[in-house]
Amino acid sequence: MSTFDAPSSLTIIRPDDWHLHLRDGATMASVLPHSARQFGRAIVMPNLKPPVTTVAQAAAYRDRILAALPAGLSFEPLMTLYLTNNTSPDEIRRAAESDFVHAVKLYPAGATTNSDAGVTDLANCYKVLEVMQETGLPFLVHGEVTDGDIDLFDREAVFIERVMRPLRKNFPALNVVFEHITTKDAAQYVAEAEGPIAATITAHHLLYNRNEIFKGGIRPHYYCLPVLKREEHRLALVTAATSGDERFFLGTDSAPHAQGAKEAACGCAGCYTALHAMELYTEAFERAGALDKLEAFASLNGPAFYGLPPNEGTITLNREQWTLPQTLPLGEQEVVPLNAGETINWRMA
Ligand code: DOR
Ligand code: ZN
Repeated sequence: MSTFDAPSSLTIIRPDDWHLHLRDGATMASVLPHSARQFGRAIVMPNLKPPVTTVAQAAAYRDRILAALPAGLSFEPLMTLYLTNNTSPDEIRRAAESDFVHAVKLYPAGATTNSDAGVTDLANCYKVLEVMQETGLPFLVHGEVTDGDIDLFDREAVFIERVMRPLRKNFPALNVVFEHITTKDAAQYVAEAEGPIAATITAHHLLYNRNEIFKGGIRPHYYCLPVLKREEHRLALVTAATSGDERFFLGTDSAPHAQGAKEAACGCAGCYTALHAMELYTEAFERAGALDKLEAFASLNGPAFYGLPPNEGTITLNREQWTLPQTLPLGEQEVVPLNAGETINWRMA
């Protein structure tokens, strides 16, 4: 790739999405084909109502996803369990022994959508963390403190000091993914930390800083959690993603909410990018002059961390302008994709 300045197309090993919200029911049926077109596999978030807390629930959810998959699309949902204060070590052992639960997710209580059942204090979970460390089951961490006295924009940086460092000191062999990192603090922590740690990065955090939420008025479709940060943080994320460091890999955090739930007095957090995620990542990597690093970030580093082989087959992205729809069906309702009505420069073949 380095021999061309502006290639007209790019072919890479079929990528995976290491952080995805598929929801359930008719909503899931609407969004699943978008992800399945773009990605071979996805780590499926467990923050349903009620959350997916047991291996049996994860198996049933997986069956519903596979049943909703349109014929001709191949896609493997990699399931996760939602950690609560009451998750038992036996449940974690069953998860590790299953061949379809690939990780356990930490939602600090109150941090985001459907996190009410999340963990109030990790000290409640030490037995469970011991089993995860012993079995190698990865721990996916939503890395934000929720204390009311901590500024919203500082939640991730404070989490590193108050939670992440003590956690990894106590469980040095635990496989940790710092999910959807948004700050230079997190990028630096992950790059420099000892032991098994990685981080996912969304396309929207690579492309936008927090100004985007307020450009010309309040723009709810740019509101997600962790919230977009200052430009210096975005630049640090781009540097990390395009560095070639195998600790950083792709996780869209595509999170569909119905239009009315976002365009509201108290709008939900989440950006819907499943339709055009690879196009957005390609744009971000091209702007950084790093198209040659996209395949490792999107298709190789994630499987290596999870101990899985890369996908078979490839995808091709063409340099072709196209305009995103204003809305897409979401069950009986509609979802507004990120960049709705905007023209973008890449298109998946
Ligand atoms: O913006 C977000 N939306 N962040 C999350 O952590 C959860 C997600 C959702 O489920 O809607
Ligand atoms: Zn998420």
